Amino acid sequence: MQWNFPEIHDQAKAEAQALGNPQELEAFRLKYLGKKGIVAAVFGSLGQAEPADKAAIGKGANDLRTLVEALIAEKSGSINTVKKAEEFIDISLPGTGNALGHTHILTQTMQEIIAVFEQMGFVTIETPEIETEFHNFTGLNIPIDHPSRDAFDTFYLDAEDPTARGRRLLLRSHTSPGQVRIMKAYKPPMAVIVPGRVYRPDAVDASHSFMFHQVEGLLVDEKVQFSDLKGLLTEFCRRFFGPKVIMRFRPHFFPFTEPSAEVDINAEILGIQRKKWLEILGCGMINPKVFDAVGYPKNKYKGFAFGMGVERMAMLKYGINDIRLFYENDVRFLKQF
Ligand code: PHE
Repeated sequence: MQWNFPEIHDQAKAEAQALGNPQELEAFRLKYLGKKGIVAAVFGSLGQAEPADKAAIGKGANDLRTLVEALIAEKSGSINTVKKAEEFIDISLPGTGNALGHTHILTQTMQEIIAVFEQMGFVTIETPEIETEFHNFTGLNIPIDHPSRDAFDTFYLDAEDPTARGRRLLLRSHTSPGQVRIMKAYKPPMAVIVPGRVYRPDAVDASHSFMFHQVEGLLVDEKVQFSDLKGLLTEFCRRFFGPKVIMRFRPHFFPFTEPSAEVDINAEILGIQRKKWLEILGCGMINPKVFDAVGYPKNKYKGFAFGMGVERMAMLKYGINDIRLFYENDVRFLKQF
């Protein structure tokens, strides 16, 4: 008798593939490994075999047994699992879904602020967090001896500004360098907001952090006046905080706007005790010196700019009294929003 072992192996593998339940598995075992099975028949044929063929036939029988045992071991695992699953899973029980997270309260606040300005026609542009002294200070008419340039008020990097020899790069201390970058890149009319992180080496306490978020706003055209700025920010605060909000414009000074103001929100009205008025933003009419610095023609354009603190906005809107809560990633805090 001649045995075609490769063919028998292929056949056994194909049959094993098709096995679907314990009965079929047992029949398969008997067919190959049973007393009257194929492996036994191969061994049984040894007696009549030519002496030269005996070694090959013996090896063929052993290999076939090893293969079939392995196939059975492999199949019985999956067949038993299927059986267990049918018996023990109560498909009427509710599942154990994965809890989904959500965006951080600061991201939500930022998105709400951006959405209000986009509804009013502003476009959003992001500018770099690593800045040059030119964009962060000089282009904004902040003089060389201004205290904000001091290393106590700005984080300087250990890297030279590739565009200005001997000048170091820094982490922007406000989003206002976005004004300079955008005006250098585009011609008016424009209405743009620049959201992002800013950095100042402040000692951390309930109202200060070395990193926080701002949204800068910039509008430039040929006829723009302070009342446009006032109207825009008033409408913004009504949409963001709701119609009962009370705000005030308080005169202030910024080198890059003239005249300048800060806006305070009445915290009492919003149901927050701490201080009666909380400052949320700085603003003003763009100083013509900034238009010079970005290369706009003289006396052609007017515009306004503002920069608001995102953490402050969220604290007022949601009654949060400590800025550190935003950064600690305590889910008991984050889950509330
Ligand atoms: N950059 C100022 C700050 O961080 C805010 C500001 C922006 C003021 C734009 C006027 C105009 O305090």
